[in-house]
This record gives sequence, C-alpha cells and structure tokens, in this order.
Amino acid sequence: MRILYLGDIVGEKTISVLKKHIEEIKRENHIHIVLCNAENVTKGRGLSFIHYKQLKGLGIAGMTMGNHTFSKSEIKEFIDDATIARPANLTTDLGKDVLYIQYNQETIALINLLGRVYLNIPLDCPFKTLESMLPNITADKIIVDFHGEATSEKRAFFYNFAGKVDAIIGSHTHIKTDDAEVYKNTCYITDMGMCGPKYSVLGSEVDGILERFKTGIYEPAKVSEDATIQLNGVILDLGKENKIEDFKKIIKAPIL
Ligand SMILES: [Fe+2]
Ligand SMILES: [Fe+2]
Repeated sequence: MRILYLGDIVGEKTISVLKKHIEEIKRENHIHIVLCNAENVTKGRGLSFIHYKQLKGLGIAGMTMGNHTFSKSEIKEFIDDATIARPANLTTDLGKDVLYIQYNQETIALINLLGRVYLNIPLDCPFKTLESMLPNITADKIIVDFHGEATSEKRAFFYNFAGKVDAIIGSHTHIKTDDAEVYKNTCYITDMGMCGPKYSVLGSEVDGILERFKTGIYEPAKVSEDATIQLNGVILDLGKENKIEDFKKIIKAPIL
C-alpha cells in the first residue's frame, strides 16, 4: 500500500492548489491513500470546519495535528467526529488518540504525538504515552506523526520505537530533512517539510518575520501571499518490507 503523507499544510491557497493537482500526483506516484498534517491550514494556525471539509473533499483519509491543534477553538465542536488523530499526549479527552483507517482488508492506526523540547505546552511524556498505547492497538500498520522542534528528540524517539511501528515521520519545523531511512522495518524522516507558499519563512509572510527578527516588533505572523506553492512530504510504501521515498513538488504560480 502506497501512502502519500503531506507535511504541514499552510494556508487555504494550498488547498486550492491541491484540489487542482492531487489526482495527477496520486496517478504519477501510484498512491492509494493520502494523509496530511493539518495544524496550519486556517490562516496558518489551526483548522476550521470549512477547511476540514475541503480537505476531506480532496479524499484525504486521515489528518494529524500539532501544537496548533486547538488554535481555532471551533475544532472543539467537530474533532470528536473527525478523521483526525490529535496529539495523544495532550491532556484532553477531546478527539481521538488513535485514528483507524480502513484500506481494502487492511487497518492503519494513525497516531500523533508532540515533542516536549522547546514546545512550551503541558504534555505527557510522548515515550511513555506511545509505550502504553501500543498493546491496545490492533492494526496491520501503525504510522506515527511525531510533531516536534528538536531533531535530537525525534531521532531518539525513532530508535526507541524502531521495530515496534511501521513509520515515524516528523513534522512541525516545516523544513524537510534529508535523512529518510528504514531501520528495523520502521520508516523514518526527521521532518517531512510543509505544503505552502514558496516565498515565505516557514509559510509566513517574509517582511513581517524580518521585522520581528530585526527590530523585535512582534506582530502575529500572516500566511505569505506567494502563489507558488511547494508541496513536501513522504511516500510510505508499506508492505512486508516497508519503504520510504521523498516527495517534493513545486507548483509555480499561474502566469496572469
Ligand atoms: Fe506546523
Ligand atoms: Fe507545529
């Protein structure tokens, strides 16, 4: 089974670009299932109901989130019924710890965890959380989106759970790392990168971020207006022998 996992989707313009290109991307790459990280869809922070429905309309089977899971408070109204795995080590009962996805005769368990290094959120330990979850999971394949800032924490997590799950893929930094590998049949990448505006700082408008760094004037970041969209992620080829491939595509702005 070939799964396209799209990294953090930033801004609603990216949904329109995906709408135009997703079928062709699936065809070209022989994709059966599309998953994504959806924590930055609505104005760069969180996920509104309308955008959730639009992503579902593209055929995205499952979504993970991150530190911005509850940045749009309306998610509290729909997360319980949504095909979303929210960070399992958040100390809330809202939403699902595990999202089960059915494909043909197979069941995939999708799990999302938050790292604790440099993320100032009260969280349970991601190591202990997954350790306690695994005996209760019945699935053919287990995929974990580890949403964290520190590369060291992500790699340590990978070695701890290699051989116990089928994939551990990193999200949150929005910059793709060049370390996709398989160890003990567990696919891994430290960060799969983001899907969003190319001319940007991690998806945000460049001038505002520059002002922040140069003057200390701290205004809320806006999503970059650049119409050229970079799509980053990984393709997980899960079978007896699991494989991981890089996925990267730049959709240039239409010439007006
Ligand atoms: Fe993100
Ligand atoms: Fe994040």
